[in-house]
Amino acid sequence: MSTAAPPAAVPAAAGEEVATAPASSEATAAPSTRKHRNPSLYANVPAAEIIDSLPLETRLMVRRRQYGGFWQAEFLLKGMAAAGTCFEPEASDIFLASLPKSGTTWLKALAFATLNRATHSPSDGQHPLNHRNSHDCVGFLEFMIIQQQQQHDDASARGLYEALPSSPRLFATHLPYSQLPHAITEEGSRCRIVYVCRDPKDVLISYWNFYKKVAATAAATAGGDGDGQDSAGVTKFEEAFELFCEGRFPGGPHWLHALEYWHASQRRPDQVLFLRYEDMLGDPVGNLKKLAAFMGCTFSEEDGEDGVVDQIVELCSLENLKSKDVNKNGSTRLGIKSESFFRKGQVGDWKNYMTMDMAARLDKIVEEATRGSGFTFGNSSLLGRG
Ligand code: A3P
Repeated sequence: MSTAAPPAAVPAAAGEEVATAPASSEATAAPSTRKHRNPSLYANVPAAEIIDSLPLETRLMVRRRQYGGFWQAEFLLKGMAAAGTCFEPEASDIFLASLPKSGTTWLKALAFATLNRATHSPSDGQHPLNHRNSHDCVGFLEFMIIQQQQQHDDASARGLYEALPSSPRLFATHLPYSQLPHAITEEGSRCRIVYVCRDPKDVLISYWNFYKKVAATAAATAGGDGDGQDSAGVTKFEEAFELFCEGRFPGGPHWLHALEYWHASQRRPDQVLFLRYEDMLGDPVGNLKKLAAFMGCTFSEEDGEDGVVDQIVELCSLENLKSKDVNKNGSTRLGIKSESFFRKGQVGDWKNYMTMDMAARLDKIVEEATRGSGFTFGNSSLLGRG
């Protein structure tokens, strides 16, 4: 995920060699590294040379630049710019979009288990999710693009995400809708996108706990020097709260990120499915069925009789995943401790950290930014859904 340490330095910008777009039958297990005559058709990232002049934020985790209204990790912007995001989507591709701490790990597990239920029975103790963190089952598009650019080698990128199904391919992304490669979102694209959002107050609390864990681990590893990225470490929750309210958290403002995907789901309902973490917790079976139908793999009557839906819900539950050795020990391939992705999984944990005044202030910011759109977050908001 985008809060991971940046990969090794990105090489100089890609050359301008020309290649024609591959035929759609050229399905590969990883994104193509072909270069396009007009990368802007495919990319929606700033030109490499302007990135260093974009507004900078260094507090809290990764260095970020403000671009297109969002505070994006600098290394991601640079990596994508250098790569020209030469990503060739397949019509059947499915993208799981979210901001960190909104339910990404869970959505990845649910989508992966559902799409692959014919190959991997969810009741099988040997199911990949029982011995592999879901971030290692479904990779992030932006990291794959950068990785390929750095290594100039499809095979090694494929190795990173060897569980990637060949068709439909499943990717995750933290990019805002407006910064996805155009080929995914342009008119006529048949790629599907599933977005999950969560009450920003709970996202903030989840992130705060995640940040403290990651920062502590990094400091211990670096002998107390911090993680080398966070040039101004945040130690007080109040400071993190201010940053969040200003939309300066990685990928923020959270409400605008959600709003873009929500608008897209209204415009293109067959292409964009919009989910809420709170709804998923309240009705995991109903939401899983919705997800399966959207992904083109509706549960059959036979699945129902065999209890497959309940088995997937159980397999992907926080309790089950959290209890697995692979998620208690070790790290994901992006270098983050696996256990840090699993905490409480509750609605309304913000009440244990924020004063009512803080909560009301954040709710008001969100309400003002989304007013008139018809969009609301999940139901732990003080203002409720309206
Ligand atoms: P909390 O910190 O509130 O517990 P992400 O995966 O986007 O990084 O989000 C992490 C949040 O999702 C954490 O929330 C984590 O506990 C919760 N989570 C992780 N796996 C989950 C699962 N299988 N079911 C429900 N929630 C899950």
